[in-house]
Amino acid sequence: MTGGNGQKILLGISGSIAAYKVATLIRLLVKQGHEVKCIMTDAATHFISSLTISTLSKNPVYKDFFSEDGWHNHVELGLWADVMLIAPATAHTLSKLANGTADNMLTATYLSAKCPVIIAPAMDLDMWHHGSTLANIEKLKSYGNAFIPVGYGELASGLIGDGRMAEPEEIMQFLTTHFTSTQDLKGKNILITAGPTYEHIDPVRFIGNHSSGKMGIAIANEAAKRGANVHLVLGPSNFLPNPNVKLTKVKSAQEMYEACQSEFETYDVTIFSAAVADYRPMTIASEKIKKDDNEMTITLQKNIDIAYTLGKRKSSRQVLVGFALETNDEEANALKKIHKKNLDFIVLNSLNDKGAGFGHETNKITIINKEGEIQKFELKAKTAVAYDIVNEVSKSLNKNITNQ
Ligand code: CTP
Repeated sequence: MTGGNGQKILLGISGSIAAYKVATLIRLLVKQGHEVKCIMTDAATHFISSLTISTLSKNPVYKDFFSEDGWHNHVELGLWADVMLIAPATAHTLSKLANGTADNMLTATYLSAKCPVIIAPAMDLDMWHHGSTLANIEKLKSYGNAFIPVGYGELASGLIGDGRMAEPEEIMQFLTTHFTSTQDLKGKNILITAGPTYEHIDPVRFIGNHSSGKMGIAIANEAAKRGANVHLVLGPSNFLPNPNVKLTKVKSAQEMYEACQSEFETYDVTIFSAAVADYRPMTIASEKIKKDDNEMTITLQKNIDIAYTLGKRKSSRQVLVGFALETNDEEANALKKIHKKNLDFIVLNSLNDKGAGFGHETNKITIINKEGEIQKFELKAKTAVAYDIVNEVSKSLNKNITNQ
């Protein structure tokens, strides 16, 4: 970070007539104490000169992978930024971003960026309403990118409609809201387990469960959005977190434990959202088991309890969060788990609630803390539930600071 509230802003400019507006935007950003570095596409340089941009931003402009000074490292630029703003983003650039086309400095840097990415599109109204553009935007939103809505008005083509890039003042407002409201976990290290575990029976079969991993992934995305360094240890799942989340993929409970335990002390918060298999086959057959007999017995042995084992290593500075799925005596059982596993709070999912739990897009939770306080939440989208859980994490971290 730069001094005061200044942030490192990487501004990607693509080729639209709206590029002229970024001159004002850069002036406003610099005036507010932000450090601005700019990347321009070839097409952008037809609309505004790189000299104007470099003079206003007080930094050289990046255009090509190579120049007379050598190779420009897009990975380093992506890591440097606190936020990447792409304004204006043309329909063409949106398409490249959505599809991972890294054929210029702007799109390659986008793929390397670990920070939040905010996109301000600009295009003609027909392009804006085209199914291809809408699909690209949906795809980019699903990767966690934020969009600044386009405005309505006169367009460069002479037509009137949607597609104007937001005004510099509106973009500033969006950025200010982004910086002030969402960075309460800045610098915190958070470990999250998610998804099911698969316990092998033989080379083709396993014991598993219906967990999709979506709830843990949503929490990981939300915590990363709020500034945390997030490490997600994910069992077999068809879904992935946003690129700013560090991901370790595992299969079995033992692998999940090993991925979590080695650096456990370095995490401020650990959230155990995985549906870990409680048992695994005592032996794994090296060849596929044949169906020779009418009956077969698999002897199971207990898996390591990751939350319990790491709970014993917990320091007073660390916050631990568990999940529980109960069918009876929900609150009493959840409270027992809090104490047994040394948790700060537990998120209780009820199987009795329609639309909650495994596989659904929605969830209905109750949060119970170690003091026995109970908060019940409405049925909501898992992303909104993640927001509530991360708020509780933030409160627990603050409680720890006050108590120390
Ligand atoms: N958990 C874990 N490792 C295990 C089992 C559970 O880390 N081997 C974690 C889960 O991620 C969850 C919490 O412990 O956060 C509670 O899991 P749950 O399966 O409800 O509890 P169990 O301790 O397995 O108790 P039981 O199945 O007997 O209700």
